[in-house]
Parts: sequence; C-alpha cells; structure tokens
Amino acid sequence: MGEQVRDATTVRESPAFGKGCSLNAAVTGGTGFVGQALVRLLVKRGGAVRVLVRRPEADATIRSLGAEPVRGDLEVPGDCDGLVRPGDVVYHAAARVAAVGRWADFRRTTIEGTRPLLKAALRCRPQRFVYVSTGAVYSVKHVRGGVSADRTPVAPPRYNLYARAKLEAENLVRAECEKAGCPWTIVRLSCTVYGPGHSPLVRSFLALAERGFLYVVGDGQNQFATSYVDDVARAVLLAGVDTSTAGKIYDVASEEPVTLCEFLNTTAWALGLPRVRHRVARPVAYAAAALTELWARARGREPPFNRWLVILMSVNQVVDTGRIRRELGWQPRVSFKEGMRRMQEWYRQLQEGERGTVDGDRSSLQPAHE
Ligand SMILES: NC(=O)c1ccc[n+]([C@@H]2O[C@H](COP(=O)([O-])OP(=O)(O)OC[C@H]3O[C@@H](n4cnc5c(N)ncnc54)[C@H](OP(=O)(O)O)[C@@H]3O)[C@@H](O)[C@H]2O)c1
Repeated sequence: MGEQVRDATTVRESPAFGKGCSLNAAVTGGTGFVGQALVRLLVKRGGAVRVLVRRPEADATIRSLGAEPVRGDLEVPGDCDGLVRPGDVVYHAAARVAAVGRWADFRRTTIEGTRPLLKAALRCRPQRFVYVSTGAVYSVKHVRGGVSADRTPVAPPRYNLYARAKLEAENLVRAECEKAGCPWTIVRLSCTVYGPGHSPLVRSFLALAERGFLYVVGDGQNQFATSYVDDVARAVLLAGVDTSTAGKIYDVASEEPVTLCEFLNTTAWALGLPRVRHRVARPVAYAAAALTELWARARGREPPFNRWLVILMSVNQVVDTGRIRRELGWQPRVSFKEGMRRMQEWYRQLQEGERGTVDGDRSSLQPAHE
C-alpha cells in the first residue's frame, strides 16, 4: 500500500476494503467534536449512518448532517438496543472527555456506558467495532523516540482519571469483542485534537483563561502533540473500513513540530485572548495542582486544574504514527497554521453571530470542514 494517500471518502474502491462489505455505520459520540466530523465523512461516503443521541435538541444537527438520530443514553439500560444493525461498522467515540472530574463520573460514562453498547452491538454481529481512544493512556515516563502502541507501556498516572477510564474501556472492548468473535480496532488520538467546533480544548482553554490559570509550564519549548479534527476523523473512519486493521491499535497525531508556547499562544489568538505571558516552573505547578486537588476534594468541588494538566503541558509529546501511515496510507492534510486559522474563523463567526450561546446547542454554528 506504501505511502500513497487514500481518501477516506473513496476508500470503498480500495481492495483492502474487502468485497461485499457494508458501508453502514453506527456511531456513538456523533454529537461531539470528533464524532461530528466522523459522521460528516461517513455520510459523504454513502451508506446508512445511525447516531446515538441523548439530547433531543441534537436530533436536528444529526439530521442536517444526513445521518439518522437514534435516541439513547449509554448510561440508561437498554438505550443502545436499537442503534446497531447486523453488518454495521460500530464507531464508539462517546466518553466523558475532561481533564478534571470525579472517578465515579468517568467510570459511569466511559466504562460502564461501554458495557451495554457492547452487549447490544455484539448481538447484531457487526462487521467491526472501532474504539476511539487517547494517547493519554501511555506511561508519561516512556516518551523518548515517540509513543507508539508497539513499544510504549500503557500506564496512565493514577490521578489521570480520564485516561484510566479510557484504558479500562479499551480492555473491555478487546475482551468482549474477542469473546464474541468480532474484529476490533483501537485508534489512539493525540491528547489534543483541535479545530472548529466546541471541542473539549476550547472549553477548558476558556475556563482556565477566565479563572486566571493559564500559564506556560516550564520553558514552553517542549513538543506538543496535536491533530486537526478532520484528519483525526479520516483516521478513525479508515480504521473501520480497512479489513487489515482487525486486532490492531493505531496512533494518530499530526507530527508537525509545535512547541507548548506556540500551541498556547496560537490557541489564545484563535480564541481572541491575549498571549499567555505567565510562566511557572514545573515542580511549582505540580505542587500547586496537588494542593488544589486536595482543597477541591475536601470541599466536594472540581479543581480548576490538576496534576494531569501540568504533566500534559510539560512533557515532550511525540507520537510515532508510522503504523497508520504505512498500513492505511493515512497522513495529515491540514497544517497547524491552517487548522488554527480555521478555528479562529469559526470562533470569530460564532462570537459575531451567536454571542452568548457558546455553551448552548452545538448546532448553533456548523464548523466549516473540508
Ligand atoms: N478532543 C480531544 O482532544 C481528544 C483527544 C484524544 C481522544 N479523544 C477521544 O475522542 C472521543 C470524542 O471526544 P470529543 O473531543 O469529540 O468529546 P466531546 O466533544 O466531549 O463529545 C463527547 C461525546 O460523547 C457523548 N456522550 C457523553 N456521555 C454520553 C452518554 N452517557 N450517552 C451517550 N452519549 C454520551 C456526548 O454527547 P452529548 O453531545 O449529548 O454531550 C458527545 O457526543 C472520546 O472518546 C475521547 O476520549 C478526544
């Protein structure tokens, strides 16, 4: 297959896709940032796309993308029963996505919410189960040479509740699919996916800025792994349609060298915020985060930031995407500069046209995509 670039929207013609395979898909998380981009691509390729939707007001968004909403909440028993049809490719992207939060909440949505979906889906004998995961599952002590599923141990720090839940859900997907004889594939996205849309990144960046907690940790010259949302969606889609991906884990990131400083300041620019001028030494930030977590726990509140955010901002994040490039011909198409320009344009339009609805219905302004 070499390094030839394949278009995910035309991959149907690829011999690797396999004869007689259905293009129909069942998606969770399709109302979210990554999921919407994936649904858009799936619809573009043709075939029926069904999306689990838990908020009634999101039905219209899903319909406007050309997909069919199926009302359901992962956490409500029986709600996933009508989502999957025999022969579908299942893309499971729904999760609790946040840097801070309580273990009970991460566990309920990300782990326990995956169980009923697996049960309902595997009964229908899907063609493939694709789990959208995160590079945050890797040990932060083994980042030299770039993290990759082939050689980097999975061992998220104990206080990274989000990543611990994602790893448990990964293991659940593997075990249950293997038991049922269903091919599974895992796609681990770089910790930071950006682009137009109400991403977890935009939400946390604005929250940190509002509370005065935006700092460059260390000298800010460490590499920061990012991926543009449409590039990520194409990678996830490919993982589900190429028959050679069964039982494999793929790492996805743009691999364009961007430092923490560049990342923070370009994001600040895109969101109309001032440059991030304050700096804090890593040990100081780490200690402050640990104390903040203790303080918040004692008061039953969520801390504004935590040790995981400090680590995320201060380690050298390099991802080895060799496998997905080699085996699926995937490569990023949108540069950091162009991706951030698109995010800035989306945010500017949002503020101009929809002032005051940033936390409202995500359908308020459809991001411009490729
Ligand atoms: N964004 C990143 O930087 C990043 C990086 C690495 C990996 N990932 C992975 O990519 C996936 C998608 O992330 P995202 O950025 O798109 O997050 P997001 O925008 O927060 O979307 C989360 C999605 O999950 C759905 N969801 C949450 N709880 C649910 C429940 N109980 N029942 C049904 N649906 C539920 C949400 O539905 P509502 O719309 O109703 O809230 C939404 O569609 C996640 O699995 C995440 O771990 C993301």
